Amino acid sequence: LREHEEFTKVKNIATIELGRYEIETWYFSPFPPEYNDSLKLYFCEFCLNFMKRKEQLQRHMRKCDLKHPPGDEIYRSGTLSMFEVDGKKNKVYGQNLCYLAKLFLDHKTLYYDVDLFLFYVLCECDDRGCHMVGYFSKEKHSEESYNLACILTLPPYQRKGYGKFLIAFSYELSKKEGKVGTPERPLSDLGMLSYKGYWTRVLLEILKKHKSNISIKELSDMTAIKADEILSTLQSLELIQYRKGQHAICADPKVLDRHLKAAGRGGLEVDVSKLIWTPYK
Ligand code: ACO
Ligand code: ZN
Repeated sequence: LREHEEFTKVKNIATIELGRYEIETWYFSPFPPEYNDSLKLYFCEFCLNFMKRKEQLQRHMRKCDLKHPPGDEIYRSGTLSMFEVDGKKNKVYGQNLCYLAKLFLDHKTLYYDVDLFLFYVLCECDDRGCHMVGYFSKEKHSEESYNLACILTLPPYQRKGYGKFLIAFSYELSKKEGKVGTPERPLSDLGMLSYKGYWTRVLLEILKKHKSNISIKELSDMTAIKADEILSTLQSLELIQYRKGQHAICADPKVLDRHLKAAGRGGLEVDVSKLIWTPYK
């Protein structure tokens, strides 16, 4: 059995301490039974080991020598760094990250078999270390062309553009692989909002540049977004006409500008020149 579906159960852990934040949890997460009588858990923000008592964490912090996630730093721009962690090489870290993430993910499969995944952990770095703001996981080999399994921005960092950055990053990896990609389903409401926002902005910007003289296939090749997701995004913006049995993009520049304005801020950009990565073999 490769995966194990956790249905929403009664919430067990109410709050966690992580780095300088105390965070209220959202959902049940299947921590090992010995942790289930605790309302609060204390996480080491670097190795993600968790403990039931503050004194245990303090003792741990004196001897834990990690200052960033284990694995390779594959991107750095300013204070923002991305680390790639192989679940097979860092099993405990991968499991800890899944326990932590499940606290904020409903109806999501929790993978115990972390071997099969890569974890992309986004950090804000300062002189005390690299502090995780969020992550996404990705199957090493996906038959369904998933380029992202789970995505999370930790609550203290939400609504600042990190989610869109993580999504953009997952598509940059797909571009380097020369494949189209799509997020694993189901998407949460917040996940759907973030994806729709990302697809909308990326497509509108290209249409504007190319004065709409472009096909869905070409858009897909340029963005690594699946053709049917491009079609549904453009349909929802009413930029598609059905002519002679074919879908055609038709967008007046004024209409594009209006949509772009409504699409809100672009947020944090992924600077591809700072990504040093080759696809997993
Ligand atoms: N209310 C309304 N709109 C929101 C909200 C909210 N609370 N949060 C995000 N959005 C929308 C907005 O359109 C926003 O863009 P804007 O701020 O420019 O208007 C857009 O989503 C993305 O905002 P970001 O700041 O880039 O995203 P954030 O860092 O907050 O992360 C994420 C989004 C990852 C979905 C976050 O909400 C989260 O971790 N949620 C809990 C876990 C989850 O649901 N993950 C997705 C599950 S599906 C899957 O994993 C495949
Ligand atoms: Zn530690």
